[in-house]
Amino acid sequence: MTLWTASEIEQATGGKATTDFSAIGVSIDTRTLKKGEIYIALKGDALDGHDYVEAAFKAGAAAAIVKEGFESASGPLVHVDDTMTALEKLGAAGRARSKAKIIAVTGSAGKTGTKEMLSIVFGALGKTHASKKSFNNHWGVPLSLANMPKDAAYGVFELGMNHAGELSNLTCQVKPHIAIITTIEPVHIEFFKNMEAIADAKAEIFTSMKGGTAILPFDNPHFARLKARAEKSGLQKILSFGEDEAAQSRLIDCALHADSTKVTADILGERVKYKLNIPGKHIALNSLSALTAVKAAGGNLNASVEALKKSEPVEGRGNRISVTITEGQPPLVIINESYNANPAAMLAAFDVFAMTTPASGGRRIAVLGDMLELGKDGPRLHAELANPLLKAKTDLLFCCGPLMDALYQQLPPDWRGGHAKDSQMLVPLITDVAKPGDVFLVKGSAGSKMSYVVQALQDMAAAQTNAKGNQHAV
Ligand SMILES: Nc1ncnc2c1ncn2[C@@H]1O[C@H](COP(=O)(O)OP(=O)(O)OP(=O)(O)O)[C@@H](O)[C@H]1O
Ligand SMILES: [Mg+2]
Repeated sequence: MTLWTASEIEQATGGKATTDFSAIGVSIDTRTLKKGEIYIALKGDALDGHDYVEAAFKAGAAAAIVKEGFESASGPLVHVDDTMTALEKLGAAGRARSKAKIIAVTGSAGKTGTKEMLSIVFGALGKTHASKKSFNNHWGVPLSLANMPKDAAYGVFELGMNHAGELSNLTCQVKPHIAIITTIEPVHIEFFKNMEAIADAKAEIFTSMKGGTAILPFDNPHFARLKARAEKSGLQKILSFGEDEAAQSRLIDCALHADSTKVTADILGERVKYKLNIPGKHIALNSLSALTAVKAAGGNLNASVEALKKSEPVEGRGNRISVTITEGQPPLVIINESYNANPAAMLAAFDVFAMTTPASGGRRIAVLGDMLELGKDGPRLHAELANPLLKAKTDLLFCCGPLMDALYQQLPPDWRGGHAKDSQMLVPLITDVAKPGDVFLVKGSAGSKMSYVVQALQDMAAAQTNAKGNQHAV
C-alpha cells in the first residue's frame, strides 16, 4: 500500500524528485529497510547516511532523500537542503493528514512496555500504528509519524528525553490527544538538578495538548506537581491510575506469578479482570494506564481487556529463555532484562526474580551491569541495591562495571560470585559456574552490554548440542 508518492514528498519536504515513484514506508537504516520503502540519508556524528544510499537501493529502496548535489544512478532521488529537516517535515505531514486519535506515552521507565500494551488494546478497537522499538527521540519520533498509515484510527507514540526542552519539541510534532506519564523516577538524572526538575521535564508533554487528556501515576510523589502542570497547560481531563483508593483507575488485586500477573482493576468505574503474560506489579500498573486511555478515547473496554491475553514481555525487558545445557537435566532459565536498567526497574525485576523458583539444585544468580546516567548519585544508588537483592533470595551476584563495584563491596563475601571490568570479561566467570536448574537475572543499562552474557548462556546450549551433533533448537 502506497504511503507516500513522489509529489507528496516534494510537497512535504520542499525537495525536488528526479523522477516519479511511490513508497510503502520510510526508513533511515539500510539494515532494516524493506523493499519499497524510501530511504532518508541522515548525517550522524560518526556516520553519514549518504555513504549507504547504494546499499539502500540494493535492499530495494523505492527512492532516497538526499542533500543537494548528491547523485546516484541506482534509483530515484529527492534532493533537499537538509535531510534531518526533511524527516521532520515528512513526520509533520504524516501527522497533519491523519485523522487518528493520538496517544503518547512518556515517563522515567516503562514507556516501551506501555506503548506495546497500548498497541494491543487499541489494536482491538481499530487500525493502530505504533512507534517501533524505543523510537522516542529527535529522529525516532518524526520517523514514527512519517510511517503512520493514512487510514490509521489510532496512533501510539513513545516520547523520551534526557534534557529539559526535548519533550516540548517532540510533543509539538506528535500533538497527542491523550498523554500517559508512566512514572517519575531517578532515571536519566545526570542533566537535572533534582526530581522535581525531572517531573517538570516530563510534564512538557502537555505543551501541545490544550483540551486533551492526561493520564497520571497517582501513587507517585510527584503526582500533584504533574497534575498542576497539566491544569496550567489547559488540559480538559486529568485522570489518574494507581493502587491508592483515590486513584480514578485502581488496581484492586494483583496476583503475582513468576511469568504472569492476574489483575483485578477498576477502570474509571468499570471493573475488569484479566491476565497479563508479563510478571510484575509495575507492569500491571502500566496496563491500567493503557486501559484508562481506551476508556478516555471512548473505546470498548471489554474488547481491549480480551486483547491483553496477547501481551508478552518485550525482548530484553523480562523475556524468559530456557536453555538445556545437559540432556536429561532441568534447563537453566534466563530472565533477560539486558535492555535497560535504573533503580526502580531493578527493584521491579528483583520482585519477579524472587518469585522464580529454581529447579532442584539450582540457584538464583543475579548478573548485573552498571545503571548509567545517574550522575553523582550513581555509586550510592548502586550500593542501595544490596538489601533488596538479598531479600530477593539471591544466592550469588556477578556484576561488572565501576558503579556495580559499589554494590559488590556491600555484599557479604558468600554472595560475591565475581566482578569484572565489563560484560565481556564477566562472561567466562559466569559460564564457568552455570549449572542446570539455575535462574539467571541479567540486567543492566543498554550501554553496559549485558546482552553478551545472555548470548553466552544461550551459546552454552548450542555448544552442547553441536558437540553431540544434535540439531534440536532449545
Ligand atoms: N512503572 C514502572 N516502574 C518501574 N520500572 C518499570 C515500570 N515499567 C517498566 N519498568 C521496567 O523498566 C525497564 C525498562 O522498560 P521499558 O523499556 O518499557 O522502559 P522505557 O521507558 O521505554 O526505557 P527507555 O528510556 O530505554 O526507552 C524494564 O526493566 C521494565 O520492567
Ligand atoms: Mg523505550
